[in-house]
Amino acid sequence: MLSMKNISKAFNGIEVLKSVDFSVEKGEVHALMGGNGAGKSTLMKILTGVYTADGGDVFIEGKPVTINDMKDARANKISMIFQEFSLIPTLTVAENIFLTREAKTSLGLLNDKECVEKTRDLLKELEVDINPNELVGNLGVGYWQMTEIAKALSQEAKILIMDEPTSSLTKNETEILFKFINKLKRKGISIIYISHRMDEIFEICDRITILRDGKNMVTENCKDIPLETVIQHIVGAEMDKAFEWQERSYPHGSNPILEVKNLASGSRVNDISFKLYPGEILGIAGLMGSGRSEVARSIFGIDPIDSGEVFIKGEKQSIKNPTDAISAGLALIPEDRRVQGLVLAHSVKENMILPILSKLKKGPFVDDRKAIELSNELVKKLNIKTDNIYKTTSLLSGGNQQKIVLAKWLANDPDVLILDEPTIGVDIGAKTEIIDIIRELADSGKSILVISSELPELLAVSDRVIVLHDGRVVKELNRKEIQAEEELQHAIQGY
Ligand SMILES: Nc1ncnc2c1ncn2[C@@H]1O[C@H](COP(=O)(O)OP(=O)(O)OP(=O)(O)O)[C@@H](O)[C@H]1O
Ligand SMILES: [Mg+2]
Repeated sequence: MLSMKNISKAFNGIEVLKSVDFSVEKGEVHALMGGNGAGKSTLMKILTGVYTADGGDVFIEGKPVTINDMKDARANKISMIFQEFSLIPTLTVAENIFLTREAKTSLGLLNDKECVEKTRDLLKELEVDINPNELVGNLGVGYWQMTEIAKALSQEAKILIMDEPTSSLTKNETEILFKFINKLKRKGISIIYISHRMDEIFEICDRITILRDGKNMVTENCKDIPLETVIQHIVGAEMDKAFEWQERSYPHGSNPILEVKNLASGSRVNDISFKLYPGEILGIAGLMGSGRSEVARSIFGIDPIDSGEVFIKGEKQSIKNPTDAISAGLALIPEDRRVQGLVLAHSVKENMILPILSKLKKGPFVDDRKAIELSNELVKKLNIKTDNIYKTTSLLSGGNQQKIVLAKWLANDPDVLILDEPTIGVDIGAKTEIIDIIRELADSGKSILVISSELPELLAVSDRVIVLHDGRVVKELNRKEIQAEEELQHAIQGY
């Protein structure tokens, strides 16, 4: 179906793709893996016409093609399913699918009825149970994705590119998506599947290609390549595949550093109480929509608190906005880092020192030497892949941008650190690094709240876990008492 040959690409003289060969069969799910900055997105951007390759050829069904923009990509039946969904929540499913296109009446207007009928047929063919007249905003995130895919297929796409499609899905939604992907396969659709989650790759993919530093390290049938080999190709070294939990001792004390009492905020946080002790790592688990992220947002002053109280070191707080929260000693690393956490047009260094500018001031001037030193230190500590600290942040790979947000808050040295999905989008090597950094921070006396849907990581790092459901704490588990991941999975889904 697709074959890319000898693809090369350099930015400012730095080669990020080196003579890469990549091919996908009809009806195949092909995993594209590799560490943060390995070149996956760049290769796909060449395929979708966002970038032009410096060298190499692309063939679709054996014929050479030139792809200069999204239109060319579409004409060649290639479609990208975006991580940040491009749907409009206030329009219906049918309207979204036919938004930019024909289905016009003789008067040249969009014919609603025809759109709805066409959408109904399409969804029926795909065996997806979605009402074409439903507002997209009322659907679960899993169904947004299917709507996106339906939209692509309605435009005759034969090759779908999915970049971390499950990063915002629950286990159930992921299963529904996987069933859907299997249906697409049977229809002869080819799928390029980018993910950092190993278990998914082995569950859903036929073949795997691993890039490292812009080179194709291996292309192999999934059933013929052991997990250890995959990890080794990704990180370039041998590594333990499992995240290990180590029991930590921390000066528990009887006085919590953070205490939340009967917190309510908006429709998602109804009545949440918990305590966080000095040096402790408290995990927050729960399904999407259980109030996980929202509780963090309300504590941090992003969403207004309707009722309840927040105490820091025993003192009642009235945090009205993030600035108040920061001066109270809190830091929040949001889930949607690219949008909320970074100024993409600024350099790596500028982003890193942003929250600590006042601390770096020497009289009216910023101590630049110190800023440079600190930024370089953080780049090294988090293994951030960038040419130097002056590179514009938008030019870094997705995973490396995520690491910068982490670095930025570490520099600020807060008492309480709230991490929302700290390991999503980062590669397997960096996941372990981040878990280690979280532990080190706690060992040095920081108190940490970790919100995560990646249970192995959550279990590896937490001293204690609370489970949320419908905006309430429904269970509290001592990490020591959890034997297997399934136990936590049950606690999360058992309501
Ligand atoms: N427009 C650009 N200008 C300069 N450098 C770029 C540009 N786009 C990408 N790069 C660099 O190319 C390299 C590959 O980036 P790419 O986004 O392809 O990585 P990736 O494999 O998708 O990583 P991730 O898993 O983190 O998303 C990175 O070092 C990145 O900084
Ligand atoms: Mg990427």
